[in-house]
Amino acid sequence: MTYDDIYKLSISNPETFWAEAAKGIDWFKEPDVILDDKRPPFYRWFSGGKLNTCYNAVDRHVVKGRGDQVAIIFDSPVTNTIRKITYAQLQDEVSRFAGVLQDKGVGLGDTVIIYMPMIPEAAFAMLACARLGAIHSVVFGGFAPSELALRIEHARPKILITASGAIEGKKTIAYKPLVDKALDIADHKVDAVLVFKRDFVDAELTSGRDFCWQDLMVGAQSVPCVEVDATDPLYILYTSGTTGMPKGVMRDNGGHAVALHWSMKNVYDLEAGEVFWSASDVGWVVGHSYIVYAPLLAGCTTVFYEGKPIGTPDAGAFWRVISEHGVKTMFTAPTAFRAIKKEDPEGVLCRKYDLRCFEALYLAGERLDPDTYHWASDLLKVPVIDHWWQTETGWAIVANCRGIEEFAVKPGSPTKPVPGYHVQIVDDGGKVVGPNVEGNVVIKLPLPPGTLASLWRDDEKFKKSYMTSFPGYYETSDGGFIDEDGYIYIMGRMDDVINIAGHRLSTGAMEEVVATHPDVAECAVFGTADQLKGQLPVGLVVLKAGRVRDSAELAGELAQMVRDKIGPIACYRTTAVVNRLPKTRSGKILRGTMRAIANGKKYRMPSTIDDPLILDEITATLKGLGFAG
Ligand code: COA
Ligand code: AMP
Repeated sequence: MTYDDIYKLSISNPETFWAEAAKGIDWFKEPDVILDDKRPPFYRWFSGGKLNTCYNAVDRHVVKGRGDQVAIIFDSPVTNTIRKITYAQLQDEVSRFAGVLQDKGVGLGDTVIIYMPMIPEAAFAMLACARLGAIHSVVFGGFAPSELALRIEHARPKILITASGAIEGKKTIAYKPLVDKALDIADHKVDAVLVFKRDFVDAELTSGRDFCWQDLMVGAQSVPCVEVDATDPLYILYTSGTTGMPKGVMRDNGGHAVALHWSMKNVYDLEAGEVFWSASDVGWVVGHSYIVYAPLLAGCTTVFYEGKPIGTPDAGAFWRVISEHGVKTMFTAPTAFRAIKKEDPEGVLCRKYDLRCFEALYLAGERLDPDTYHWASDLLKVPVIDHWWQTETGWAIVANCRGIEEFAVKPGSPTKPVPGYHVQIVDDGGKVVGPNVEGNVVIKLPLPPGTLASLWRDDEKFKKSYMTSFPGYYETSDGGFIDEDGYIYIMGRMDDVINIAGHRLSTGAMEEVVATHPDVAECAVFGTADQLKGQLPVGLVVLKAGRVRDSAELAGELAQMVRDKIGPIACYRTTAVVNRLPKTRSGKILRGTMRAIANGKKYRMPSTIDDPLILDEITATLKGLGFAG
């Protein structure tokens, strides 16, 4: 079947389409209903079905003869380690760690927070939760204790799983003090903290609450997979919204397993037994879907890489991993390639390695700029596939589905919608616009399986955030257009979410921190284009009456505050003091206009602006900072 046939079927008859895809999963009980659409916008996939995600990702491969195949390759240049874990060993580790969790009282429907670096034990922990029907929430290690505390408070975990630390590039980071601080801040109290000890950094354990993972595993008993409903939650992943309170994206078991399994062949063209490498982090959605779940659901080998594209030890790190482990397909963010290009523009290091195993590079997380696309294509001489998705969807919305039919690339476009996603462009009034007209990118409901079922403990926020502006559609908050050939172009967020080095962060959250500085009366933080990281935040602040501050000193204090409250990954460094911020007559700060000025984009003078002259001061200030060019 051609892409067109498959796509049309997925939209006109999603039940037939996804019933077929569901055959890729082993069910304890087949679903009664493929799509339950009785309560829009809360669509439910595979209702009545019973399965276990861990069984599908681990045990069934052992049962079907893949026990000796490598499931996970841990490659950690920062600790000089390469470790290979077969499916049989993975089953043993996961089922015994599930026994440990069960001993600590974890069961069906309990929540567990996982705050771990890129080590296989992070996957063991996630899969062990899935085995018991517990709901995990992995928090990225680059988030500061207050951000971890917010998530503890909201997810109310029974236990927290962590490691003693990580090596981030060249720095050793002790995780346990960060966890202790977060637990101090949060009102919610966990029953236990399980700490995987690494030999280069120790962790102090609080007696009665904290336990060493390795000690608990001595003599731990394996436990079997629990039957869960297809619609039961598998995990919560907090992601940045427009305010300081992140959104708890909730994913179910059945839809997730079916969609991710289907995507491995159809989107990424991978078969069981082949090696897939996603150079991301388990703390992000890419890590959930394409380091852990999808490759394992499909019986592939997945690479856990604890390193960076450059500096561990050099800009040839990616090529070394690909050639050493026979990687067929790799997935990362464009920023990683920009970093390599900066260090090794001629790609000299690439030529040192035999990359004949390598068939395709997939990039996502931010817009793939045509320069990076061309550089990577010319260097690697394999298809470079841009694909667009979000934490909320959990898998690609628009992609060149090489497993179905490969389209000619138009640089700047991730090509066409993935089957299951009915993507349209609407104007602000919700009217569908024609080809090449930029507008709001929306997806007609129902969303396919694997996408967010709701926000954790907040159905109202789910409706308000995604389903209200354009009734009948899911609002992606990205802007873009569709050309005359049906190619989709994603031009960037329309809200206060920015992408820094492929990491999604909220400028609203940064504003909330900056606003707490004792000298700051009000502020605006927005994203500016950056050649390496895609975007970086910049803050404009108005001082309280009578305060005079050295601007470099103030900028340093604010940078430290954001680092302490949100984390180093926010990369907040630049602040300028202005006399006033541009506002509408009703007092709303015109962030979009400032963002346009900072990025040298044309903007229309807002008709509601209270004083147009302020924009001259803002432009001059931003020019002084090196923006607005
Ligand atoms: N734990 C603790 N700190 C972390 C961290 C983690 N897991 N990840 C990043 N940080 C810290 C970094 O050490 C750095 O701290 P610093 O300000 O003290 O130097 C800060 O957060 C910013 O990190 P990062 O944005 O990663 O910048 P970098 O200069 O260290 O590296 C790149 C730049 C481009 C090499 C890096 O961002 C990269 O590899 N990006 C790819 C991202 C990616 O794969 N995203 C996943 C989406 S698919
Ligand atoms: P996250 O939820 O962290 O995956 O970030 C999602 C956001 O990243 C999207 O809403 C987009 O703004 C951006 N994004 C992700 N992939 C792409 C892509 N291929 N092209 C353009 N923007 C992208």
